Amino acid sequence: MKLAVLKDAGGVEARVAATPETVAGYIKTGHTVTITKGAGKAAHFSDQDYKEAGATLAATNAACVKGADLVLSITGGDKKLLTSLKKGAGITGVLNPTDNPDYAAAAAKAGVTAYAMEYIPRISRAQSMDVLSSQSNLSGYRAVVEAGTIYGRAFPMMMTAAGTVAPAKVFIMGAGVAGLQAVATARRLGAVTTATDVRPAAKEQVASLGAKFIAVENEEFKEAETAGGYAKQMSAEYQKLQAELTASHIAKQDIVITTALIPGRPAPRLIDKAMVASMRAGSVIVDMAVERGGNVEGAKPGEIVETKNGVKIVGLLNWPSRMASDASNMYARNLKNLLPLLTGEDGAYAPDWDDEIVKGCALTKDGEIIHERLKA
Ligand code: NAI
Repeated sequence: MKLAVLKDAGGVEARVAATPETVAGYIKTGHTVTITKGAGKAAHFSDQDYKEAGATLAATNAACVKGADLVLSITGGDKKLLTSLKKGAGITGVLNPTDNPDYAAAAAKAGVTAYAMEYIPRISRAQSMDVLSSQSNLSGYRAVVEAGTIYGRAFPMMMTAAGTVAPAKVFIMGAGVAGLQAVATARRLGAVTTATDVRPAAKEQVASLGAKFIAVENEEFKEAETAGGYAKQMSAEYQKLQAELTASHIAKQDIVITTALIPGRPAPRLIDKAMVASMRAGSVIVDMAVERGGNVEGAKPGEIVETKNGVKIVGLLNWPSRMASDASNMYARNLKNLLPLLTGEDGAYAPDWDDEIVKGCALTKDGEIIHERLKA
């Protein structure tokens, strides 16, 4: 089939959906690849690298997608671009259908099948296609490293002739994919690390990384995990108990990283102004949920806010894009692993509509919005 690789919104998005490695793989299996000039530049893949891998370069995204069967992207690109695709073609990306329903509507209107990578079901067979996991993992790592550079003190304990440096105390709130990698990274850097979550399964995972788990472990906690492995929205009563438990703990922390999310809902508020005020000057809070409303009162999307008492609240956006090269490598492999489900026996673009992974991530088909989550 004819594959096209977009240059995603430059500046805001540094990742690219195919790397020279995956392009060479596509060519080897008989596909052709066109890529927009400069698509990989911010992730340190040059046009020359893609050329050598066998891709053809296009001057613009519109020229790139012309005649393509399947378009590979990180964000789906500008929805106006969908009209440049041929009818019946597909486009993959993290399409954010909850916040951006217009995109699916535009794809349906253009007769294009839009595949939302974040909707790929989290079943064992789809693990190698799971962009939420591959990107969150890097984000969790990066949040700790970033916090470490903003924090004016050291992470590990250091015993020197000039005196002892105390280890940093790091608290991770939300121990999913990003949170667990943050726990592992903080531990590797020598911080005294604690973590919390509302899902009981997280307790053992946190302990296995050598960190201490802190949570309100009542009856509601025991039932807080959905069949899909996600957290449920907790009751107001639970949230009050959780706040009481974590408030005194937060006051003693140097760095807090929050990652708590509930699918399809605003992020739960875990840290209020009083808790922020209880931390000592120089402490750092990273709110990784800021894009979905935020876990921390006072966090601002895209900004680092310093409070009156000298605590920095980090609300940076798009963490995977800050590690564009590694993030692109992983994302590109996730897409490569999805491709066989969209390919017929003759190598042509032919989605397997009986496959639950394809059905799980396709938002549109034949001019209609077909995904249950968008029809409700
Ligand atoms: P997420 O990004 O939706 O949420 C992050 C974390 O925040 C979760 O651990 C969640 O329990 C926690 N959280 C929500 N509300 C909270 C609150 N009020 N207080 C404290 N923590 C709160 O979750 P993520 O990282 O995408 O993964 C969640 C789980 O999904 C995994 O641990 C795993 O069980 C499952 N999963 C399954 C995969 C598979 O292929 N089978 C792959 C990846 C994850």
